[in-house]
Amino acid sequence: MKVDVILGLQWGDEGKGKIVDVFTPRYDIIARFQGGPNAGHTIIFGGKKFVLHTIPSGIFHRKTLNVIGNGVIIDPFILFKEIDTLREAAMEPEENLLVSRRAHLILPTHRLLDAALESAKGDSRIGSTLKGIGPTYTDKYGRNGVRVGNITGSNFNTHYELLKSGHLDVVRNLGFDYSSHLFDGMVFDEYEERWFESVGRLKRLKVIDSEIFLNASLEQGKTILAEGAQGTMLDVDFGSYPFVTSSNTITAGVCSGLGIPPHRIGKIFGIFKAYCTRVGSGPFPTELIDSDGDKLRTGGNEFGSTTGRPRRCGWLDLPALKYSIMLNGIDSLIMMKADVLDPFPEINICTGYSIEKEILQGFPFDLSDENIHPVYERMSGWNRSLDGCKAMDDIPDALAEYIRFIEKNVGLPVDIVSIGPDRLQTLQR
Ligand code: GDP
Ligand code: IMO
Ligand code: MG
Repeated sequence: MKVDVILGLQWGDEGKGKIVDVFTPRYDIIARFQGGPNAGHTIIFGGKKFVLHTIPSGIFHRKTLNVIGNGVIIDPFILFKEIDTLREAAMEPEENLLVSRRAHLILPTHRLLDAALESAKGDSRIGSTLKGIGPTYTDKYGRNGVRVGNITGSNFNTHYELLKSGHLDVVRNLGFDYSSHLFDGMVFDEYEERWFESVGRLKRLKVIDSEIFLNASLEQGKTILAEGAQGTMLDVDFGSYPFVTSSNTITAGVCSGLGIPPHRIGKIFGIFKAYCTRVGSGPFPTELIDSDGDKLRTGGNEFGSTTGRPRRCGWLDLPALKYSIMLNGIDSLIMMKADVLDPFPEINICTGYSIEKEILQGFPFDLSDENIHPVYERMSGWNRSLDGCKAMDDIPDALAEYIRFIEKNVGLPVDIVSIGPDRLQTLQR
């Protein structure tokens, strides 16, 4: 068997959580391969809404196992907050959740460092979610990190204290006053205490060698779906660096983030919104800083699932989409939030970038170059609600035309169109 992949092709928040949840009944195992609680994956069904940060989005289906892979970084406090929220909703997430022994831990001081480093950057700040992502991956690649497998070791506390003291030195050198800095409403000492309580609970979760488990599962004929976090334009190598996250969000990340050999990668689903959003700083060529942008934000409820920040909104960017498709080897496209375009009499779609009236070939090294301008094709909107559409055949002609235009431009089929946040508002070819 092979591992199928679903990941975001834009700047995150494409709707990965919803689609992973819709796909879950087809799979035995759902596995997250990178990122951490910077992710916020929303799932809505039966009138209830859940936002997952660390737990894979297959958790609502009891028969499916959910694996937090080695490439993910875990804040135990946030993980158990999520687990408790699910328990309050009468679920038993500990039953079908497995955690890699090799996943790295986000320490309280990683979060503190994130805040101190961002604050020191001033106007050039990345707009991090401040969940400690950059500092934790820095310690991982600097070969200093603490892994889940270390929490039962005898030198865990020594390792923790050593890292903490080094982090605090940096925080002090940056002149960051952390005495009043709040972590989920708590000052450092209180947060640290709660963090350690959560580490205690982590010891009782099903901690496994996930690379061995996943490869053995494939041998046994089990089906696996890898769930991406963030999006391709936030990839540390290919995104709009330095305004990116600190992991490989692309298909290649599945191999290192789960321990899966490349020949075991199966079908790759790429997910994109019918327009674009970005939260945090960094270039965004098709951004709309006008009433159309406000209309997308309000209509699409574009406020961060993790931080609540308003998301920047703009038209669909085909050059960026094509670049993402190339990097990931996408087989099938999934278009989200088509309904948000319902009230637009006309829709713009960016088909290229120009510099001084000359169309750029390829994808630019620096998207923030202020001379880069999007070139738009104007299309008519459908001017009606998609609410009553139950199948692809029901969609208005103008939406069908919009989809055909995208398919022709990027050379791939759009196999699923999402027309609302609920599980059921999903049209499949
Ligand atoms: P993720 O990070 O990729 O899982 O996406 P988020 O959950 O952060 O953001 C997607 C948002 O759009 C969530 O609030 C979803 O409930 C919502 N959503 C998903 N699909 C649709 C859709 O087709 N239409 C509308 N209107 N909302 C959607
Ligand atoms: P999901 O999985 C959207 C953005 C942040 C910031 C940059 C770096 O829900 O799609 P970080 O906290 O990683 O240091 O932030 O990346 N970012 C996201 N934007 N969706 C996400 O995840 C994101 N995770 C990080 O806003 O600009
Ligand atoms: Mg999100």
